[in-house]
Amino acid sequence: MQRLDGKVALVTGGAGGIGSAICTTLAACGANVVVGYHTSAAAAEQLAKSLPSVKQQHIALRAPVTDSAGLHELALAIDRIYGRCDILVNSHGATKFIAHHDLDALDDALIDTILSTNVRGSFATVRALRGLLARHDDGLVVNISSISAQLALGSNVMYCASKAALDNMTRSLARALAPKIRVVSLSPGLVKTEFTNRFDPAWLERYVAATPLQRAILPEEIGEAVVAIASMLKAATGIVIPIDGGRTLT
Ligand SMILES: NC(=O)c1ccc[n+]([C@@H]2O[C@H](COP(=O)([O-])OP(=O)(O)OC[C@H]3O[C@@H](n4cnc5c(N)ncnc54)[C@H](OP(=O)(O)O)[C@@H]3O)[C@@H](O)[C@H]2O)c1
Repeated sequence: MQRLDGKVALVTGGAGGIGSAICTTLAACGANVVVGYHTSAAAAEQLAKSLPSVKQQHIALRAPVTDSAGLHELALAIDRIYGRCDILVNSHGATKFIAHHDLDALDDALIDTILSTNVRGSFATVRALRGLLARHDDGLVVNISSISAQLALGSNVMYCASKAALDNMTRSLARALAPKIRVVSLSPGLVKTEFTNRFDPAWLERYVAATPLQRAILPEEIGEAVVAIASMLKAATGIVIPIDGGRTLT
């Protein structure tokens, strides 16, 4: 793995299934990690304490993506503590399983939650952190999207649409924030987390059978992809990278 010594990375949804693996991989590669949380303060603080560290300082901070004043406070805190923020990983997300044909079950309140979290919230973090990310001319935003953006298959119709909007925003922001900040979408297929472990085993079996690599993605593989983008793919911006075992080929 490449090194990210001296870098500061903020991961929203940092205590989540994928977020915690991203925090762990970034820390193992030498970055100082800010574990951003919304409701999982205790889990985020526990994770920050347990992350690998040589001389790094890891902390948990509130990162409420639908509260722009809260995000402004977060940016001020990161500036005060570290004086920089090199990597922002938007790993927050909201969804609920609703069959795509059941339009009535996808009510306005849920639509607003999904869009304000997955789309507006991802924009709002970039807006709040932009000054810090641009400070050292090598800023990076990684938006954790989903292959549901391309396949239009996923937990519900609005979740798929929100991830398509996120990928579109990745391209707009990559153009708008260049050359100081790169913006990339990472699109996982099914990732093995506590959440997906609870899915119907027969459904999981069918999913894996329809995936060319014949397996789900491990959360640490998303962390490794983030590190690869930060350390190796230096010319990449405005792109969407599927990490899906080839699921989008089928
Ligand atoms: N798991 C998969 O198979 C899969 C596949 C493709 C894409 N993804 C995407 O990967 C990302 C992470 O998913 P996951 O599987 O790790 O889910 P998860 O364990 O449920 O984590 C989601 C995180 O989002 C945070 N969050 C929700 N609302 C928020 C808000 N208003 N402000 C700030 N944070 C908020 C939560 O923080 P708190 O716990 O602190 O409230 C939680 O940690 C999501 O964008 C998801 O769509 C997941």
